[in-house]
Amino acid sequence: MKKFALISFFVALCLECVAVVPHSVKAAKGWLFYESGAVSAPVVCRVETEVPSSAAGHIVLENGDSYINLKFGKVKAERHVLTLQAVQDNRHEDKLVVSLFDNGQMVGEPFSCRKPSGSWKINVSGKVSPLSLNVFVPDPNHEIVVPKLDFSEKADKFIDDLMGRMTLNEKIGQLSQYVGSSLMTGPESQQFSDSLVRRDMMGSVLNATGSKALRQIQEKYMTESRLKIPLLFGMDVIHGYRTLTPVPLAEACSWDMEAIEASAKMAAVEASAAGVHWTFAPMVDIGRDARWGRVVEGAGEDPFLCSKIAAARVNGFQWNLWDNDAVIACAKHWIGYGLPQAGRDYAPVDMSERTLYDVYLPPFKAASNAGVLTYMSAFHDLNGIPASGDQEMLRKFLQNEWGFDGFVVSDWQSVIQLIAQGVAEDGKDAAQIAFNAGVDMDMIDGLYNAHLHELVDEGLVRESDIDDACRRILRVKYSLGFFEDPYKFFDEEREEKTLLNDEFISSARKLACKSMVLLRNENQLLPLSKNTGSIALIGPLADNRHEINGSWRCRAEDSDAVTVLAGLRNKLGDNVVINYAKGCDFDGEDRSGFDAAVDAALKSDVVIAVVGEKALFSGESRSRCHLGLPGVQEELVERLVATGKPVVAVLMNGRPLCIENLNNTVPAILEAWFPGTTTGDAVADVLFGDYNPSGRLAITFPRAEGQIPAYYNYKRSGRPGDMERSSTVRHIDVPNAPLYPFGYGLGYTSFSYGKPFTDKESYTRRDTVNVYVDVTNTGARDGEETVQVYVSDLVASVVRPVMELKGFAKVYLRAGETRRVKVSIDPLSLGFYNADMDYVVEDGLFDIHVGHDSADYDTTRIKIEN
Ligand code: BGC
Repeated sequence: MKKFALISFFVALCLECVAVVPHSVKAAKGWLFYESGAVSAPVVCRVETEVPSSAAGHIVLENGDSYINLKFGKVKAERHVLTLQAVQDNRHEDKLVVSLFDNGQMVGEPFSCRKPSGSWKINVSGKVSPLSLNVFVPDPNHEIVVPKLDFSEKADKFIDDLMGRMTLNEKIGQLSQYVGSSLMTGPESQQFSDSLVRRDMMGSVLNATGSKALRQIQEKYMTESRLKIPLLFGMDVIHGYRTLTPVPLAEACSWDMEAIEASAKMAAVEASAAGVHWTFAPMVDIGRDARWGRVVEGAGEDPFLCSKIAAARVNGFQWNLWDNDAVIACAKHWIGYGLPQAGRDYAPVDMSERTLYDVYLPPFKAASNAGVLTYMSAFHDLNGIPASGDQEMLRKFLQNEWGFDGFVVSDWQSVIQLIAQGVAEDGKDAAQIAFNAGVDMDMIDGLYNAHLHELVDEGLVRESDIDDACRRILRVKYSLGFFEDPYKFFDEEREEKTLLNDEFISSARKLACKSMVLLRNENQLLPLSKNTGSIALIGPLADNRHEINGSWRCRAEDSDAVTVLAGLRNKLGDNVVINYAKGCDFDGEDRSGFDAAVDAALKSDVVIAVVGEKALFSGESRSRCHLGLPGVQEELVERLVATGKPVVAVLMNGRPLCIENLNNTVPAILEAWFPGTTTGDAVADVLFGDYNPSGRLAITFPRAEGQIPAYYNYKRSGRPGDMERSSTVRHIDVPNAPLYPFGYGLGYTSFSYGKPFTDKESYTRRDTVNVYVDVTNTGARDGEETVQVYVSDLVASVVRPVMELKGFAKVYLRAGETRRVKVSIDPLSLGFYNADMDYVVEDGLFDIHVGHDSADYDTTRIKIEN
């Protein structure tokens, strides 16, 4: 665990004159109770001491030659708690911010001091004889990070000076974003006009691309605006810019953090070469409902895996920030957007605070820990509060509690939509609500430009908040080096050389292979032999260039994409006869192509049916109720199976499908998702064994829509599900188990597991739990296994999930090879939000399940105490 990744050392807190009498310990949000009466703790901590009434005194915080003396006056309250909080200074790596709280109220202002080089000494003295001392450390979901922004004195001075010359309107202009297409073609529109440019009323432009076009826009702004503050160009670069990698859900199934980070980096290098500064990615919403079309844009259902992937993607996009070949990332959609009612995109979300904290927030926090510079506020309402008007979650939580220093952009018109949501009377009201909530930049509504000035005049919006929002945006621009060179991203020659280069295509192909999940392979039908005489290639996706790219295709061109037909031809040359027939379309009732498909099957040795969804059957506002294969595709496959020929189904889709029938009839099923530019080559690599499939499901495949939401880490219940017994948690018509569980995936070899064990039986919350298991490749081919480690908290103060993923390791084993695999777990990550909504790791027994997936594992047990 990287809880203290940025804190390179631990120092001791030495305590004098402490008599410890424990009292009920309650950690503030974001802090975890560490120990009572401690003499050592990490320096970034919170120390709480209870003092008797009518005492007065001081606390001395000593560090070598410097010390801080914190005085407190005569204590009157019966229970009086003094708290010292030392946290990493977000802006300076070598400093801490120290605050003193007196009965929960901050005393004075927080102050900055040098990070200690030796040990700290807390000396509680005077007439005070403390009754207890408790030490808290940041909980793993609230790691403190140093963001990537420039907080140097030079930067502050520059921004102060610039803002000193800006009018209120010009500051508001920085908070406004417009669509680039109208800008590029020039017509005056309601929102964008040349006069806005001349009045400096624009901070950012979205969805315009290409070095040449963006240079023109920047030049226009730099020539015609008064202050010449360069524009920030944003775009949805979701799974590649020109070279498309698999859709995000597919990438997540690789469980390969290096590859995922590399993919985001590749997208960043291409997009930035085309002039883009900022991508609206990653989407880090948890996806537990396959009806919701946007599961395709996320990393699946699990908070642990999604958090790892969120960090990998942010690190990839922002890999070389401040040069000109990376892009700013944007974690979206803040917050709780992934669970709309009935799976319908944009619908209201009702979710408990506990689920929000335990499940939906961690990936956002992981993005923050990785230094993400922007967040996007969502369209929906969370428990009745519109996400783009939620002051608690945006200003108080994100900015104040998490100390987020970047800026928040609204989603497309999510400010004006506050009217339709029924919380704002008109545009002015909407602007007031969103801005006061903490939405710094208004995406495309123009409402900030139209109303914020007036709202300031009326005292409904504070000018200091506008300064703060403007400063946040200017700091990003400053840190990007725009004020030195507003054109540093626009280099047409670089763009030409960078896009779709051979290296990118080869990486995209490897990742496409890693992302595919082999769901079924009866009698080892796969891999197919390259000496197969003839193949029938059937289905609406078999020779389709357009759909295989998936949704959010950015600037990819259909002509770039390799179809499955082309991929098979590339792989097999003239050795194998390919009998292609489309068979049917994606939707509709037309069965007129069935006969030709059956004929093709009958004259071939094996059938490959490439079936699934159109790209835009998933994605934004593409929710579905029926999750079977659309149209008559399933019927087509049944006709192919009826020929008696061996049939391989290759699925392409942006969400889990309900394919129980297919599973019962087709011997081999490969879930390929939408693999992107190199689709056909990657599918051929896997089908013909040049790549041994290693993908594992990042999302559960339900048997039937009625099982939704279907996810492996559901909570325990008093009458656990049992198909054989009535009055248990179950449906009477469909078993509880999904068709394919989270973590599931086959390959062309097999692995066996020894009994898992840990290095100790009992751990404190400060120890690392090392889990070991011997894994053997028992098949005839080399291959990669993903060893998964799940944990169950056996008795807790609130109802907990049956199990939760807490670690995994990918291991490549040669045929016959055995390797001992180690997965380490930080016990602090075994916590949860208790009845008081404090993050706690409770003492007790925990089962550690180690295995191939969330339904196939062996178990060992540990104890956590102290
Ligand atoms: C989507 C966002 C996207 C934005 C800008 C919205 O409709 O919800 O995810 O980033 O448009 O294109």
